[in-house]
Amino acid sequence: MKVLLVNGSPHVEGCTYTALTEVASALQAEAIETEIFHIGTKPLAGCFGCRKCGELGHCVFSDRVNDFLAIAGDADGFIFGSPVHYASACGAMVSFMDRVFYAGSNSGKRPFYLKPAAAVCVARRAGTTATFDMMNKYFTISEMPVISSLYWNMVHGFTPEEVRQDQEGLLIMRTLGRNMAWFLKCKEAGLHAGVDFPKQEERVMTNFIR
Ligand SMILES: Cc1cc2nc3c(=O)[nH]c(=O)nc-3n(C[C@H](O)[C@H](O)[C@H](O)COP(=O)(O)O)c2cc1C
Repeated sequence: MKVLLVNGSPHVEGCTYTALTEVASALQAEAIETEIFHIGTKPLAGCFGCRKCGELGHCVFSDRVNDFLAIAGDADGFIFGSPVHYASACGAMVSFMDRVFYAGSNSGKRPFYLKPAAAVCVARRAGTTATFDMMNKYFTISEMPVISSLYWNMVHGFTPEEVRQDQEGLLIMRTLGRNMAWFLKCKEAGLHAGVDFPKQEERVMTNFIR
């Protein structure tokens, strides 16, 4: 089983990466394969709402969003990490997640369906819980079980060295990794024992005026 960990920071080995590596180490210790996916530093457009993803099965923009969607289907779980920028996920990560989840849900491939997910937020000082809340919204509209830890998933630091000094933050990361590994094993055992995916009804969408 494999977990994809998304580094939404412009810094390839910065504070967010440092937090994600702690989660990854705990997953690996439980025999779960991991891959850290960096969204990169090239500009990422926001979603244009063109809905072409429904026809194409991927986003119209050829960038890291499609790179990610190409491998997401093979992953069993996801951790999305972002630095806090002005008390929210950083702008590139918002664009990335908007398009990943919109194209993912419109593609007909259901790469996230009933796969566990968690958000990890990294800040020098504040804005973590607002960021954590907004990132969790992507999972809870996508039928993804949200994995939690013993505190909201945050670490504090301005440099990787400072993050490594955040003992409680690192404990939260390790616990998150172990909890996700446990959930993945339970899901696999359940499926092997014949607990099938839930029955699904045809999708209905009603606009607010009706
Ligand atoms: C544009 C910008 C906005 C930021 N806003 C906040 C903020 O609202 N709260 C905070 O505590 N830190 C803020 N920071 C600091 C980063 O969250 C912090 O340095 C984080 O560790 C960076 O992680 P990274 O190395 O993975 O990019 C901001 C940094 C930048 C560049």
